[in-house]
Amino acid sequence: MPPLTCPSAPRPERYGRPPTPTRQPLPNTSRVDNERDNERENERPLEPGIERDFSDNMSYGDYLRLDLLLSAQQPQSKPPQHDELLFIVQHQTSELWLKLLVHELRSARALLRADDLSPALKRLARVKHVQHVLTDQWSVLATMTPSEYALIRPFLATSSGFQSAQYREVEFLLGNKSADMVKVFSHDPAARAELETLLHEPSLYDEFLAYLDRRGYDVPASVLERDVSQPHRLVPQLVDTFASVYAAPEQHWGVYETCEELVDVEDNFQEWRFRHLQVVQRTIGHKTGTGGSSGVDFLRRALDLTFFPELYEVRTRL
Ligand code: HEM
Repeated sequence: MPPLTCPSAPRPERYGRPPTPTRQPLPNTSRVDNERDNERENERPLEPGIERDFSDNMSYGDYLRLDLLLSAQQPQSKPPQHDELLFIVQHQTSELWLKLLVHELRSARALLRADDLSPALKRLARVKHVQHVLTDQWSVLATMTPSEYALIRPFLATSSGFQSAQYREVEFLLGNKSADMVKVFSHDPAARAELETLLHEPSLYDEFLAYLDRRGYDVPASVLERDVSQPHRLVPQLVDTFASVYAAPEQHWGVYETCEELVDVEDNFQEWRFRHLQVVQRTIGHKTGTGGSSGVDFLRRALDLTFFPELYEVRTRL
């Protein structure tokens, strides 16, 4: 009879020790695969080819001039206020994106002037993405409460986004011209000269209307010869022209598509204005602005401005 054993007792080593698994050589392993084998858990060893010495080579920071960029955040508050860095970064990033908008809009305008419609539309597609980034980032600044802003406000003195030259460049490029705005930049001759030039140049919309004329669309001579330093004002005859485009999109596809792109750009611009207004309202209520305006009431009136009035008017006709 076999001896009785407890079921939980260790089993006799009847089969000996299990064989130690031997590592099978990996077929055709590359250098990178072998390095991966040697990786320790949750670590990523640097590959031998990765550049480490930038004494004679250009680095990331060199190319991007991060020495300049990252030393440009100079909080003014005394004692230092935690939220001032957010306030500065939000404005500075906005200015960087505005710089790209100016670049893309100038290019789109030049391409339209050269009858190069497709690349111009490509530029506008990028413009629209940048506008979305600018609008989305309002939610970051909205985390600053009125009490937190009140601690910074005295140090802003008379500075205000109202004095953003690049914002005015974008407005001028889209057609919202104002000689009075140029005067705000008398303290900055370079910005003033840039705006003065843009004031007297045709806007993106002026170039689009000239393009339409060259393509045989009905564009009144008064539009083509207008004083481009003035904001564009609604021309009923142009609404008729656009009505014929919207009545048969398939026959006018390029023009029809451009019209819709321009409406997208204006829509996006208005969204930015509206989000700015909302953030201003939740931050300072109905107090006056650091730039001296009535604040929210002044900003709300900008929502009535339009770059491409005929493209909105035509919708009522369809
Ligand atoms: C809590 C943050 C902010 C407050 C309380 C605020 C407040 C104001 C106010 C009251 C105005 C009217 C002009 C004045 O009297 O100052 C204004 C204009 C303006 N602000 Fe801001 N702002 C804020 C953030 C920003 C940011 C992040 C930008 C980004 C660049 C910006 C850009 C502008 C521009 C372009 C205008 C001119 C708008 C127009 O002419 O219609 N603001 N702001």
